[in-house]
Amino acid sequence: MSEGKVPLSVKPAVPRHVAIIMDGNGRWAAARGLPRVEGHQRGVEALRRTIRAAGEIGIGFITIFSFSAENWSRPASEVGELMGLLRRFIRNDLAELHQSNVRVRIIGEREGLDADIGRLLVEAEELTRGNSGLTLVVAFNYGARQEIARAARRVAEQVTSGAIKNADVTMETLGRFLDAPDVPDPDLIIRTSGEQRLSNFLLWQSAYSELVFVPTYWPDFDRAALELAIGEYQQRERRFGGLVAKTGS
Ligand code: IPE
Ligand code: IPE
Ligand code: MG
Repeated sequence: MSEGKVPLSVKPAVPRHVAIIMDGNGRWAAARGLPRVEGHQRGVEALRRTIRAAGEIGIGFITIFSFSAENWSRPASEVGELMGLLRRFIRNDLAELHQSNVRVRIIGEREGLDADIGRLLVEAEELTRGNSGLTLVVAFNYGARQEIARAARRVAEQVTSGAIKNADVTMETLGRFLDAPDVPDPDLIIRTSGEQRLSNFLLWQSAYSELVFVPTYWPDFDRAALELAIGEYQQRERRFGGLVAKTGS
């Protein structure tokens, strides 16, 4: 292959891992004079559409930012509604996800969650453990700095116990202690609603991700919007610090 150019005959690759910051539920609702919770409810429908589309498009991994470690600072009523939506999503959709051969993984801090939510998260992971289709990674009570700090703590424990030496602490070592170390880094991160920031999402894993920001509010997101974002991704030249375009995965 000539340097820096992909021959026109090569079909652009579908990203192996797409991560999505599902943002704009509240603004979607406000624009219609509806309560914010209505936006969150419609957001769950957008999520169902997007998971289905991801499977059909042939994406291997999809990570969704469903509740951040910082979202606890919202009013208790909204936090309660978001927790209720997660409970209902798992109760209503888990069987169908399982039937569709989707494997569910959860990242984020489990400690401190309501016991029933903790059990639902374990149930989702256990039931779908053997599935070989799309992997759905749910970032729940997730913050990237917290995840990195947890990993650093585990590395420190290993050093203290003598299992590894100081000098063996490399980026690979730390990476092994992240919440889902076997999941490849996202090739593409999409944020909806027009905001252009990561808000403490996958800071370690996004080192070489392509970022695509779309104006659509999350409840309006659908297969066409996903395909548009993937189209933009496919125009990008990923060099990973080198001079030659490489595919991400
Ligand atoms: C995303 O929508 C959902 C969560 C963060 C849980 P928002 O609730 O952030 O909606 P906006 O940003 O206020 O419009
Ligand atoms: C990020 O959105 C978190 C989720 C999508 C779950 P926020 O709406 O919480 O982010 P900020 O506060 O606008 O940065
Ligand atoms: Mg928001």
